[in-house]
Amino acid sequence: MFKAHKSSSFDPEQMELMAYAQKRIRQKRNWFNHGAIFFIGSIILWIMNMALRAGIDTTFFGYPWFVSAVLLWFALWLYHGLSVFVFNRFLGDAWEKKQIDILMAKQEKKIIQLQAKLKDKKEIIDSKQSGGMNNTAKVIMIVAASDNNVIGKDNHLIWRLKSDLQRFKTMTSGHTIIMGRKTFESFPKPLPNRKHIVISRQKDYHVPEGVLLAHSINEALLMGQELGQTYVIGGGEIYKQAMPFCDTIELTRVHTESKGDTFFPNLDMQVWKLLNKESHQADKDNEFDYSFLTYKKN
Ligand SMILES: NC(=O)c1ccc[n+]([C@@H]2O[C@H](COP(=O)([O-])OP(=O)(O)OC[C@H]3O[C@@H](n4cnc5c(N)ncnc54)[C@H](OP(=O)(O)O)[C@@H]3O)[C@@H](O)[C@H]2O)c1
Repeated sequence: MFKAHKSSSFDPEQMELMAYAQKRIRQKRNWFNHGAIFFIGSIILWIMNMALRAGIDTTFFGYPWFVSAVLLWFALWLYHGLSVFVFNRFLGDAWEKKQIDILMAKQEKKIIQLQAKLKDKKEIIDSKQSGGMNNTAKVIMIVAASDNNVIGKDNHLIWRLKSDLQRFKTMTSGHTIIMGRKTFESFPKPLPNRKHIVISRQKDYHVPEGVLLAHSINEALLMGQELGQTYVIGGGEIYKQAMPFCDTIELTRVHTESKGDTFFPNLDMQVWKLLNKESHQADKDNEFDYSFLTYKKN
């Protein structure tokens, strides 16, 4: 018959306004009641003092005591009125709330400024720790290593794996390759269709036209970042130093125990997660069994 009573359709702000209005009505009513009590009380005091002669000999400033009592009460009633109609406007709840809001807005602004400063400082520290290079930049390391992590001997590769060379070519073509000076010197000439960055401590090291020279890992990585997708292609010294800045490793695991003089660093499995594995058998073009492994940084 009747519609179910809906739960309050006022929003919190309206509820707050309503509570405030009710409070103001209560305050005004109390003041009015106080006035009525004061009026009746004054008559009673007058009767006590003048008709019933209570304390008839007591005077203040030459007036009967009830005059002082009534004046004092009147002053209190006036003060009550002032606090309801005047002070409430300046020092009441609304005023207090406004002050708190202003204070909170100031605090929030300060917090935002502090957070921005902290972010800047963190970025500066991170950038200093990586020598200006962002640790999470997409740098890929590409390598072929035997089961015992050998990657070369006498500045040469030590196996014949056509599929690995083909994969290297496919992945790096059109991109930038970073390498140590010794690896660069192991090539008969720069590889086609790739931008080369060679790292050497020698300030006067001569590189052919089109090849870029860097004097530190960070410098090489920053140069690479400017040029686009970057591959770190070795050798042993460079793999070791560049590892913290790479986020992917394309490893061709050559299933043999080789003898050599250059090694790929042991992978920390807390840091690197195997994403993909593709195993192949030895054949006429590939002298050992091998697996293509893709690792990503955790
Ligand atoms: N299996 C694979 O996938 C693979 C790939 C690449 C290479 N390799 C093999 O790895 C071997 C070469 O490796 P490697 O370790 O002997 O040499 P490398 O890493 O190719 O080059 C070492 C050179 O790089 C420069 N260098 C290193 N750290 C530097 C730094 N922090 N700042 C500036 N320059 C720096 C130095 O050049 P300067 O002496 O001029 O200062 C150093 O002598 C070869 O046998 C090669 O065939 C194998």
